[in-house]
Amino acid sequence: MPQLPRILVYMLLIGGCLALIPPLVFARMRATPSPNRPIHIFYDMDFQPKFKTQAPNPLFADGRAMRPPVEGTVARGESYVDTHLFEGVAAGGWATTLPGSMAMDEATLQRGHQRFDIYCSACHGYAGFGDGAVNQRAMELVANANGPVNGTQWVAAKSLHDETTRNQPMGQLFNTITHGIRNMAGYGSQITVEDRWAIAAYVKALQLSQDAPAN
Ligand code: HEC
Repeated sequence: MPQLPRILVYMLLIGGCLALIPPLVFARMRATPSPNRPIHIFYDMDFQPKFKTQAPNPLFADGRAMRPPVEGTVARGESYVDTHLFEGVAAGGWATTLPGSMAMDEATLQRGHQRFDIYCSACHGYAGFGDGAVNQRAMELVANANGPVNGTQWVAAKSLHDETTRNQPMGQLFNTITHGIRNMAGYGSQITVEDRWAIAAYVKALQLSQDAPAN
């Protein structure tokens, strides 16, 4: 077998080692944080002269870039001044009735029933006793003889027939559905305002159905 000239072997070895440097530098740069901006070859619209949320702006007397609506502004389309409808609050307390735009009738309760089964029953159970499938499974994982499976942590979904929840006005239920409570997430972004009220009304009906006195 013909021998490669020694000098060529050395050059190939050195060249091979040097060729490793750029990828190693890249790998290191990618893995270490840096206070500098990344190199932008195409700026797109990444850097724009603008004021970001909460940024100061010396142009205005109060030094704020974010401007409140001009006095006397009238909402067009979306208005949230109806506290009964949007916050469940009427006359300074939790509302005890549906907002004026909704009727407490069969259709509302049926809608609430259907939405409850979709959004709430997984944890609270179809009848609201806090025994939904997700809850049962989580309790099983937590109660495992060898300790919680995969470190599962779980706060049991409350029974909606508990004394405390039973006595809650509809507006408070609406608020819980909208914003969540303690370990329960809110559903304001997923369920429309009217459907949240329909669910609250249905929960009230569920409570009446389960806790009816014998007489
Ligand atoms: C992913 C599970 C889960 C779903 C889905 C869920 N909840 Fe809950 N809910 C909980 C848990 C857990 C608690 C108890 C939270 C705590 O005590 O930290 C709770 C508590 C509540 C309470 C008691 C509030 C109080 O004042 O103590 C109400 C009422 C309630 N949920 C209603 C609903 C309604 C209505 C829905 C459907 C829109 C719903 N929940 C969907 C898990 C869930």
